Amino acid sequence: MKLLRNMMFLMVAFSLLVVPAMAKPIKVKFSHVVAVETPKGKAAEYLKKLLEERTNGKIKMEVYPNASLYGDREAVEALKMNAIQLACPSFSKFTGFVPQLQLFDLPFLFDSTEHLHKFMDSEWGKKILKLVGSKGLVGLAYWDNGFKVLSNNIRPIILPKDAKGIKFRIMSSKVLEEQFKVIGAIPHVLPFSEVYSALQQGVVDGAENPWSNFYTKKFYEVQKYLTVSYHGYLGYMLVTNKIFMKKLKKAGLDKVFLDSVKEATEYERKLAKELDEYYYNKVKEYGKIQIHVTTPEERKIWKKTMMQIYPKFYDVIGKEFIDAALNTK
Ligand code: LMR
Repeated sequence: MKLLRNMMFLMVAFSLLVVPAMAKPIKVKFSHVVAVETPKGKAAEYLKKLLEERTNGKIKMEVYPNASLYGDREAVEALKMNAIQLACPSFSKFTGFVPQLQLFDLPFLFDSTEHLHKFMDSEWGKKILKLVGSKGLVGLAYWDNGFKVLSNNIRPIILPKDAKGIKFRIMSSKVLEEQFKVIGAIPHVLPFSEVYSALQQGVVDGAENPWSNFYTKKFYEVQKYLTVSYHGYLGYMLVTNKIFMKKLKKAGLDKVFLDSVKEATEYERKLAKELDEYYYNKVKEYGKIQIHVTTPEERKIWKKTMMQIYPKFYDVIGKEFIDAALNTK
């Protein structure tokens, strides 16, 4: 009798202690298209570390950089179908189903990173995060990259008129298309993973990128001229999907997940600032690319020229969002 009782006790203890410990971890696949050494790449690794440590391995995250799992648009589709659970596409990659996100592509909308953050952290920014909710996604946070520079192989670009006839790679975004058309250039949509070879083979003459993407993808090897124009911003929305959030909630892991996202976001912002400067210096050190930094007078001309496209997007983006961004100071 005593033996039977002991055996039953052991069986209960086994099921309470060992079985949960052996429960399968919840897998999180995070797919992105940039290099590991970028702010997004590094913050993805940091988030993995936080989640795995804080949940004692109950969450297991796999990060796929460099479009090794999915390319640009496919990542958003895969996320909708829960084939992956995290992605951090640039705003332009949402164009097809949340066109309002093109707001962030508008040239000269933000004067500085402080201005941008103020808007992102405002009620307006929160409203925009929620827009993806109608598509089964959950907007978690904004992640930074930086302001963009223009590079090309045809001639130095000092003023907008110098860009006439030059073919630039763009992400799929109507705003970016109009931004290049208004300066007489030719926009050409290409996925990020094809940019290097397109520049090398002359499929396009130039591109616009923040410093970290420009350097880590070695675009400097295949470009002759660079204009520090900082005409527009490239940033991201960290997104998951509703199916995955439900699963986390059921497992009681939603809070630790959201707290870790918050911490990784703070880390990412800080890092983006540091790496922006770091990679700018790396490009300068490389020395084989002719760099022009726009003067305040030139900047005024760029601004006036490019901002002419705004009215075309009052309906698509919503004039109230554009005004709110301009007026957040
Ligand atoms: C691009 O396509 O240029 C960017 O969206 C890549 C990235 O994720 O930074």
